Amino acid sequence: MPGIFPSEHSLGCRIEGIDLSKPLNHYDESLIIDAFGRFGVVCFPNQVLGPAQHKAFASRFGSLEINVAAGPYTVPNHPEVMILSNETIDGKPVGLGDAGQDWHTDMSYSTTIAFLNVLYALRVPRRNGTALGDTEFLDMCAAYEDLPHGIKKEIEDLTATHDFDKFWSKMVSLPGSKRKPLSDEQRAAKPPVSHPLVLHHPISKRKALYCNVGYVTRIDNISETESDKLLQFLFRHQLKEEFKYAHSWTEGDVLAWDNLWTMHNAKADYKATEIRSMWRCQTMADRIFL
Ligand code: OGA
Ligand code: MN
Repeated sequence: MPGIFPSEHSLGCRIEGIDLSKPLNHYDESLIIDAFGRFGVVCFPNQVLGPAQHKAFASRFGSLEINVAAGPYTVPNHPEVMILSNETIDGKPVGLGDAGQDWHTDMSYSTTIAFLNVLYALRVPRRNGTALGDTEFLDMCAAYEDLPHGIKKEIEDLTATHDFDKFWSKMVSLPGSKRKPLSDEQRAAKPPVSHPLVLHHPISKRKALYCNVGYVTRIDNISETESDKLLQFLFRHQLKEEFKYAHSWTEGDVLAWDNLWTMHNAKADYKATEIRSMWRCQTMADRIFL
């Protein structure tokens, strides 16, 4: 019988006793889906996975994305498994070195949004025995519930525009960035899209604030001034410390998070010589809403 160990925060739990390298049985599958709705961020420690097993697990919850930014950074013959790493071999980066290094929600810029991100930790940077490179999360159900009543009413039927290029261009502009501006093909593959600001969570049935400072550029159908004012409020509100939870990594962790009600940030507190390597599969929300 698997054991679920909740964190002390509203987000985060550990599930022990499930070997993700084996096909999931239906009991474990529904236990895990329930955990996404209750805890948002789920860690499965001590896993040993190959890319095919990683994909098999992640694809139990929806289709897998081949990321438009993956470029050369995928596991050979497994384009759905992207490599996140700051390691270089013969001067060449082996993975995307700065993935997720600011607050965002994965793939909110996509017509079909992401349900999960499933990361498998291969190497974790450590200094004096302390793990670095935490992934931090924010609880967007708590953020929604904490909104003033007037704002809840105001945003109830509003949509916002999400643009992949907002986060990407910001990363490109940082000193030392190895990213190139998006190509015309990448831009065409992921044009700006609109989504409702309030998401009804398909598992918990709670409402979540589906707005993230990483990708949202505009609230639709109101004036630019009103949009700027409301976004300034929502961005400040959603980053409050009280909504925050951090995952400290250990090699062999599989961390799967529900993007429908969380935001996250990869903490860049380690140096180029301190290697952090992960494999990543992204599961789209094309089945969870059915
Ligand atoms: C991502 C991401 C966070 C991390 O893969 O989308 O944000 O901690 N990663 O690596
Ligand atoms: Mn991310």
